[in-house]
Amino acid sequence: MIQLSHITKSFRSGRGQVKAIADVTLSVDTGRFAAIEGVSGSGKSTLLHCIGGLETPDRGEVFCFGTSIYRLTAAKLSLFQRRHLGFIFQRGNLLSYLTVAENIGLPLTLNGIAGTARAKRIEALLADIDLKPAAMALPHELSGGEIQRVSVARAIAHHPKLLLADEPTASLDTATGQRVVQLMRDLGKDYGCTIIMATHDRDIADTADPVIGLKDGQVVTDS
Ligand SMILES: Nc1ncnc2c1ncn2[C@@H]1O[C@H](COP(=O)(O)OP(=O)(O)OP(=O)(O)O)[C@@H](O)[C@H]1O
Ligand SMILES: [Mg+2]
Repeated sequence: MIQLSHITKSFRSGRGQVKAIADVTLSVDTGRFAAIEGVSGSGKSTLLHCIGGLETPDRGEVFCFGTSIYRLTAAKLSLFQRRHLGFIFQRGNLLSYLTVAENIGLPLTLNGIAGTARAKRIEALLADIDLKPAAMALPHELSGGEIQRVSVARAIAHHPKLLLADEPTASLDTATGQRVVQLMRDLGKDYGCTIIMATHDRDIADTADPVIGLKDGQVVTDS
């Protein structure tokens, strides 16, 4: 189970003090596909970053499968992230100088998976995302939807227990967006992966359960 207890996060920036997350308490059961839904600026990315240990909250605690992640040492936290976390970033974040296959293989390498096991896993993922012919392509040679599919494959390559997806369908047409969501769902299901997806798209959010509504950094609905 993923549990957030009284998470608060503010930023000091050019526009003064911004309270991005204000006292959020929620939980998502293991194996669920949850959505965090809200308009631009409501705090979705900040909340996902806090859940994944990428941004330290000012207050509150995050428990991932029983572990309070901000009580871990930096070394233990990065070990936890490397082994158990998959993150699909809002801005893609494929490494531009690595091929599609190398991008997908990166979390495998980081987890010490090499040789035939690594090659087989990459091949299976390329088939899952329907991009086998693009294995040797570089990210700039891909369409937006193809980049999103590679990002999904990379995020799940090492069978993470937790997949955090930040607007994985943004800037995609409806059909491609639904395909990306289905891909996450299918690939997550096979390994009992818990998925939390941020989206501003109500239709995409409605395919998830629970749907957590976020407004001005606060939970407004939790179904
Ligand atoms: N690093 C930062 N420094 C300063 N302010 C920030 C930072 N990150 C986020 N914010 C502010 O915190 C608030 C929430 O931002 P966040 O990115 O979490 O929203 P979001 O719901 O993901 O929006 P979008 O749908 O546009 O991606 C916004 O007002 C934003 O400007
Ligand atoms: Mg965002």
